[in-house]
Amino acid sequence: GAQPLVLGIETSCDETGVALVRGHDLLVDAVASSVDEHARFGGIIPEIASRAHLEAMVPTIERALATADVSLGEVDAIAVTAGPGLVGPLTVGASAAKALAIALDKPLYGVNHVIGHAVVDELVDGPFPERVMALVVSGGHSSLLLLDDTVDVTELGSTLDDAAGEAFDKVGRLLGLPYPGGPHIDRLAREGDPHAIRFPRGLTAPKDQARHAADFSFSGLKTAVARWVEARQDAGEEIPLPDVAASFAEAVADVLTAKTIAACRAHGVETLVVGGGFSANSQLRDMAAKRCAEAGIELRIPPIRYCTDNGAMIAALGSAVVRRGLPPSSLDLPVDSSM
Ligand code: KG4
Ligand code: ZN
Repeated sequence: GAQPLVLGIETSCDETGVALVRGHDLLVDAVASSVDEHARFGGIIPEIASRAHLEAMVPTIERALATADVSLGEVDAIAVTAGPGLVGPLTVGASAAKALAIALDKPLYGVNHVIGHAVVDELVDGPFPERVMALVVSGGHSSLLLLDDTVDVTELGSTLDDAAGEAFDKVGRLLGLPYPGGPHIDRLAREGDPHAIRFPRGLTAPKDQARHAADFSFSGLKTAVARWVEARQDAGEEIPLPDVAASFAEAVADVLTAKTIAACRAHGVETLVVGGGFSANSQLRDMAAKRCAEAGIELRIPPIRYCTDNGAMIAALGSAVVRRGLPPSSLDLPVDSSM
């Protein structure tokens, strides 16, 4: 018979996402964002995000159903982000998902947002091979995951301090760029010399390598950029913004790709998926493409609208979980901000 129709709900940050997936097919992906309401604060305000989710939830569900021409009664399972993320926003999504599961008498699946960022690629590039490496990089997370049969997940590493996007945003603030600074640094970096300044890579010394082969650390790099800029300012010199941006972006892309490809080799993995909002970064994309080609690794990066937070990633992971026959979550499913 037909594969189950899974409704996915995502509310871990500032995007209200609702999507419908059947098997590996995406029927609709509806997203409402409160990002504009946070811009003037220079960061996400959890209470404002929670309230925006509450207001957007039912209209976004209705829009998704109408666009796909599906009635609620046709939905076979509900998947929702259980974590990680902001507790208030997660709670709004989980409450909506539970209400639907009870009203429809259909199973509820609480799933992990970071894994969703990887599995969404199945909707775009087709089913995963048996073993896949996933690099998930955004403003909130930088994780290296080993995926066996899509849903058996081993976290090989993560950031010990800042996420990649977060480091870009902090360096952006330091350079006087608007929030979020990531895309602005990317744009500046394209006009600069990536080898102008040699910034430290972090966790690449032999003693760190032994313990943190697949962990990342970006706060030392951020501090090095701050010191470099301050020294020039104190000397009354002009800051060569494009060169600083390019050299900083080069350092981040270098560490992310080097560690990821080393992990692929160590685990015999031939397919790499890159997901999360930071995968829009040009320097990371270029370096990943070059180094994967050299290493004979297939690189899969979904289009950017599936890399930022959305409901499709949650419906995709829910669909994989249902396909595997894993048990549903209990209706008292908690949310877990640090899942
Ligand atoms: O996934 P996302 O939309 O939100 C989070 O869940 O964090 O990721 C946004 C993050 C921000 O830190 C933003 O500055 C960064 O990704 N970002 C970029 C680029 N596009 C987005 N950083 C560098 N270069 C880009 N092109
Ligand atoms: Zn995310």
